[in-house]
Amino acid sequence: MPSETLTITDNRNGKTYELPIIHETIKATDLRQIKTDPAEFGLMPYDPSYMNTASCKSRITFIDGDKGILEYRGYPIDQLAEKASFLETAYMIWYGELPNAAELADWTAQVNGQPLCPEGVKRVISAFDRDAHPMGMLVSMLGALSAAYPDAKNIGDAKNRLRHAQRLLWQVPAVSAYIHRHRQGLPFIDPDPKLSYAGNFLRMLFGKDNGPYTPDPVLEEALDILFILHADHEQNCSTSTMRLVGSSQADPYASMAAAAAALYGPLHGGANEAVLKMLDEIGSTENIPGFIAKVKAGEGRLMGFGHRVYKNYDPRAKIIKKAADQVFEVTGKNPKIDMAVMLEKIALEDAYFIKRKLYPNVDFYSGIIYQAMGFPPEMFTVLFAVGRAIGWLAQWEEMLCDSDQKIGRPRQIFLGPERRDYVPLEKR
Ligand code: ACO
Repeated sequence: MPSETLTITDNRNGKTYELPIIHETIKATDLRQIKTDPAEFGLMPYDPSYMNTASCKSRITFIDGDKGILEYRGYPIDQLAEKASFLETAYMIWYGELPNAAELADWTAQVNGQPLCPEGVKRVISAFDRDAHPMGMLVSMLGALSAAYPDAKNIGDAKNRLRHAQRLLWQVPAVSAYIHRHRQGLPFIDPDPKLSYAGNFLRMLFGKDNGPYTPDPVLEEALDILFILHADHEQNCSTSTMRLVGSSQADPYASMAAAAAALYGPLHGGANEAVLKMLDEIGSTENIPGFIAKVKAGEGRLMGFGHRVYKNYDPRAKIIKKAADQVFEVTGKNPKIDMAVMLEKIALEDAYFIKRKLYPNVDFYSGIIYQAMGFPPEMFTVLFAVGRAIGWLAQWEEMLCDSDQKIGRPRQIFLGPERRDYVPLEKR
């Protein structure tokens, strides 16, 4: 028995139990011994929406929501955004350590050496209506990639997992760019492995043809930073989905399709698109006080504000706000930034938001940059997914290598009717 324990007395029968406390948690299954009759199932914790349940041990991302701290493998997000490249960050998230020059070159060559997007998958993209939502298309394309690579089902082989993780890092930007181009009625452009990760993505999105393409260095860097900021965020809704689906031993493409579906929702990654819609609806700065009043009256939410974990300024939002100024020097200012800044100022001084500790999250400013770069709002969540793919993959890998993990399967409190007999239709 560890030195730290929790003593529980069951008032139903006066029995006392001592539960080990390890890493500031008790094991939910330890509660099962607490029962008044041996035939009983035993006590369960009830935690809808996982407000206070650790579902895994992880060594990837640390967040201190009260202090506004985010670290990947111990490295502060602001240092990574300023100094590292996305592929370097991706290596570190996957392996746990920063690469040396040779390791980074090798990793880059392995990611960039993956095959082109399968022709069948491109045909599926082309089959969508031009106004189909890109996130619905991305979810479908990840499913299509699962169909295209049946050997990815061999998840017991570490080398195979790595190969398909690298393939996803290569293919997610490609299918995302092709989704954008299809919606614009433009032909698909092949990747160029000589470009940076963000530069290659810009080429596939905005290149004129398959000839040489030189990305704008400021936009390339801004996109690289945005990918780093989105790379992982511990056990959020989509990452938990990736882990849960992956726990059934589904392949990484199918698991990521499910994760992307979770990201799509407006309370999660879909918030960046919702922020732009909200700013459009507000229309101009003089309408902000009226809008805030409606939010406080419970008529809608201030999208891009609030977070389950951050009860302080989301450190990513600070970095994005800074990157916006650099992007605007190239693209011209997005007039929505003034509205967003004023909205933030009014909200942060308002008792409603102060009391609930509601601060801007990563999605509050990202859409404004994406729009300035030329992306339609429906593409914003897809851009989030491109950056997040490595986080989903590293968490999936960690889950598969964790001997504590089995297929995910929560319990329930059943409150439905007790057993009753079927009544024939004519007697109802
Ligand atoms: N605007 C107005 N009020 C809000 C907001 C908001 N954006 N967010 C929370 N609140 C209020 C709630 O109404 C509630 O008030 P009450 O106590 O009077 O009932 C209180 O703050 C707590 O809110 P919950 O919904 O219980 O907080 P929860 O942790 O479940 O939700 C969430 C977190 C979903 C992010 C929420 O803050 C929200 O809906 N934000 C807007 C959507 C958004 O920006 N999502 C992106 C999150 S970042 C990401 O996923 C990448």
